[in-house]
Amino acid sequence: MRCMPQTPIANTPHHIGEHVTVAGWVHSIRDMGKMAFIDVRDWSGILQVVLGSEDLPSLGAEWVIEVSGPVKERGEQFQNPELITGDIELAAESITVLSQAKVTPIEINKDTRGISEEVRLQYRYLDLRSQRMQQNLRLRHKVKQFLRNHLTEQDFIEVETPLLTKGTPEGAREFLVPSRLHPGNFYVLPQSPQQFKQLLMVGGVQRYFQLTKAFRDEDQRGDRQPEHTQLDMELSFVDREDILQITEDMMIALVEQLLPDHYISRRPFPRITYAQAMEQYGTDKPDLRSDPEDPYELAFAWVVDFPMFEIETSTGNIAAMHHPFTAPKSGQRELLDSQPTDVVADQFDLVLNGYEAGGGSMRINDQQLQYKIFEILGMDQSQADQQFGHMLEAFQYGVPPHGGIALGLDRLLMIFANEPNIREVMAFPKTGDARDPMMNAPGPMPEQALKDVHIDIEHDRDNGRKQQ
Ligand code: AMO
Repeated sequence: MRCMPQTPIANTPHHIGEHVTVAGWVHSIRDMGKMAFIDVRDWSGILQVVLGSEDLPSLGAEWVIEVSGPVKERGEQFQNPELITGDIELAAESITVLSQAKVTPIEINKDTRGISEEVRLQYRYLDLRSQRMQQNLRLRHKVKQFLRNHLTEQDFIEVETPLLTKGTPEGAREFLVPSRLHPGNFYVLPQSPQQFKQLLMVGGVQRYFQLTKAFRDEDQRGDRQPEHTQLDMELSFVDREDILQITEDMMIALVEQLLPDHYISRRPFPRITYAQAMEQYGTDKPDLRSDPEDPYELAFAWVVDFPMFEIETSTGNIAAMHHPFTAPKSGQRELLDSQPTDVVADQFDLVLNGYEAGGGSMRINDQQLQYKIFEILGMDQSQADQQFGHMLEAFQYGVPPHGGIALGLDRLLMIFANEPNIREVMAFPKTGDARDPMMNAPGPMPEQALKDVHIDIEHDRDNGRKQQ
């Protein structure tokens, strides 16, 4: 079957009086007895196709068809201002069925948010046809494109860093990938490109960014997924002010260019210290909107001066509040020995409407200080060398002062699109318990595949369940 050259449906109003061919899905069919109407949908819009009832072929919703005929103006009383094609219709001269469809488990022409998420994710390819999901995908693309262009204009370059790597301790559990060539050894999927981006600074890349996946094996929430996308940035020869300014200018330009209906409630973004935020709002991600019901208000704020360390409630151990590469604020270094939990870090979060939209810091660029931080975190020199030898070694070869930030792209989009969770702005997200019901992942592996990577699954005889 060969498709004719097609006109995107959104362009059909420019072809009144001309013969065109459109292709798309059958959105709805109305047979009025004498006349019949088919709404045909492609990703640019919906077009009314009109034909005599006796010419209506056997069709169903979501069948894929190609229709040819002249574009005609509709009579005034039949115009539909809700459609971009509402003043016209296509008088069908030929209809070709390109693909038939079963009755879909999801009604595409309704808002699919009311449907069970299990069903939506199992049939995500159908869910994605809905207008809202199409808009969200387009917005995502536009935002990514904007960020790439904007940062390129500011002299940043995008550099890809590996997804098969070694652990980056940033607080979350990591996903492991067994190595076939090195029995008993594992790669991990990065929680973020943190160490690589710092090593890029040592490598003389002065302004780096990357739109990249980051992986965290955490319990899921509405604003958390096992894999999320970060706009990751790192800059050399800068101080905190530069990073905040570049990020803030980028957010303002993005909103002005892509979200004309939105407004930023306070510019410059207010800055509050962690201590103030906790005291005043009881959270380090306060919602500063003046009207939380207003879908167009964007209340950005910076939360700065986080503590360097926190005591983990479950273990009582001291841990880095952000990650162990964050520098203490100037003048705080002396406190590291005597009062480590009082030390303030040069760390900042970008907060938006009550969500943590980004986090960053100035980094340590001094080997001795980096050893000291590892020591406070309970690692002696040889343990630190074993885990972070590559960073510590690199720190001997001339390290520029540097710092950076990572923005959570999914969270930003969720807020921009006024969606209740980040799954609505991701094409193929996981369920709340980290499954993909469409691909059926995670799933068991054939015995041989496990053998190849030297994995032996222990079978629990009592209940027949498999345990790793
Ligand atoms: P951080 O851990 O703060 O910093 O992550 C950066 C931003 O990524 C988003 N985010 C997530 N989004 C969805 N699902 C998740 N599971 C998830 N985890 C984080 C948040 C967060 O603010 N390497 C540092 C950055 C740096 O220091 O430059 C880092 O990853 O919006």
